[in-house]
Amino acid sequence: METGKPKPIQLFAPFYRTEEVLSEIRECLEKGWTGFGFKTLAFEEAWKEYSGFPHAHFVASCTAGLHMAVAILKERHGWADDDEIVSTPLTFVSTNHSILYNRMRPVFADIDRHLCLDPGSVSERIGPRTRAVMFVGHGGSSGELGKVESLCREKGLALILDAAHMAGTRLGGIHAGIGADAAVFSFHSVKNLPTADGGMLCMREGDDDRSARRMSWLGIDKDTYSRMGAQGTYKWLYGVNEVGWKYHGNSVTAAIGLVSLRYLDHDNAYRRQVARWYQELLGATPSVETVPVPDGCESSRHLYQILSDARDQLMVYLNAHGVYPGVHYAPNTDYPMYSYGRGTCPEAERQSARLVSLPLHLGVSRRDAARVVEVVRNFGGKRNG
Ligand SMILES: Cc1ncc(COP(=O)(O)O)c(C=O)c1O
Repeated sequence: METGKPKPIQLFAPFYRTEEVLSEIRECLEKGWTGFGFKTLAFEEAWKEYSGFPHAHFVASCTAGLHMAVAILKERHGWADDDEIVSTPLTFVSTNHSILYNRMRPVFADIDRHLCLDPGSVSERIGPRTRAVMFVGHGGSSGELGKVESLCREKGLALILDAAHMAGTRLGGIHAGIGADAAVFSFHSVKNLPTADGGMLCMREGDDDRSARRMSWLGIDKDTYSRMGAQGTYKWLYGVNEVGWKYHGNSVTAAIGLVSLRYLDHDNAYRRQVARWYQELLGATPSVETVPVPDGCESSRHLYQILSDARDQLMVYLNAHGVYPGVHYAPNTDYPMYSYGRGTCPEAERQSARLVSLPLHLGVSRRDAARVVEVVRNFGGKRNG
C-alpha cells in the first residue's frame, strides 16, 4: 500500500553478489573444507596480490587482528605492561581495547582536519614509555599517515595501523599502510570488502606473520614435527609453546571475501562517486562543513562526513525525513576505562559533537544523495530563517 512516505535512506546497507558467492561457498561444502586452509589461503594470496602487502593472515575480525598485532609486537620488542601506545580517541573502541587487552596504556593524541591523528600532537605525547603509535585511517582517509610513519621511524617507535576503513585506499598510487609494522583491515558486513565478518592482519616482518598464524590457532605450531621429518603416522603431533587464541578466519567467509575482493576497486569507485555527488550538491552550504581528503590519497570512502554546530537537531530532522545517518564516533574518553584522557584532546571532543556520517553504500543513487542534501539544506534554512 502506498503510504506517501519516501523510501528510508540508511547509513549502511551490506551488499553481496549472491550467486557468485554461493558458487564459491558450494566448493567448500562439496569438498567438506569449511575451516582454515583451502579458501583462507586463496583469499590471503589474492589480497597480497591485490594490495602489495608482503604478508597477510585472514582472521575472525579486525578486533582479533588488532589484539594479536599488539601482542606480537609487544613480545618481539620486549615491551612491558603499562608501557604506552599513542592513539586516537576518535575511533571505534576496538582500536583502544586492543591496547588494554595487552595490559598496555593508550595515551591519547588529538586529531587534525582529516579526523586522523595530528602528527604535531602525536609528537607532544611521546614520552619515555611510548613504544608505538596506533593510527586509524578514519573513514578510509590516510590523513597524515606519511608524517606519522616518519616520526615513528625517527623515534624508534612501532607503527600499528587500524585500517578497518581502508580496504583499497591508495596513497601516492600504492596501497596505504604498506610501511606499517602491522596493518589490520575489517571485513565486517558494512565495510568496503565484506566477508560477513572477518579481518586481514598484515605484519611487515615474516617472523611476525608466522607468529600471527600460530597465535590465531591457540599457539599450535604445525611446523614443529614437519621440520623434524615426521612421516604419515606422526602427522597428528604438533607443538604448543605459546598460549594463543582461536582467531583465524574460515573458508566460508574467505569464499565471500574472494568475490568481494574482485569488485573492491569497482565498488570503491562508486563510493567515491557518491562522495562527489554529496560534495557538489552541498556546494557552499553555510550550515555545514565537510572533511577534506588529503592530496595524493585515493580514499576507499568508507564514510562521507559533515560537521554541524546543531548536530543532534540535524540528526532528528534527517530521521523525521526518512534519512538515517550515523556518528563516527563518540570520543573514547567518554567511556570509564579511558576517562583519564578526558579534556586532553579538545579538537576530537569538539568535532565529535559536530559529526554526522551521511548514508554511503552501493545502493545510494544520485537521486538519494540529492534528497539527503535537500533535507540538510532545508534544516539549515529553517534554522537561519
Ligand atoms: C576504526 C575501527 N576499528 C576496528 C573495528 C573493528 O572491526 P571488526 O568488527 O572487524 O572487529 C571497526 C569496526 O567497526 C572500526 O570501525
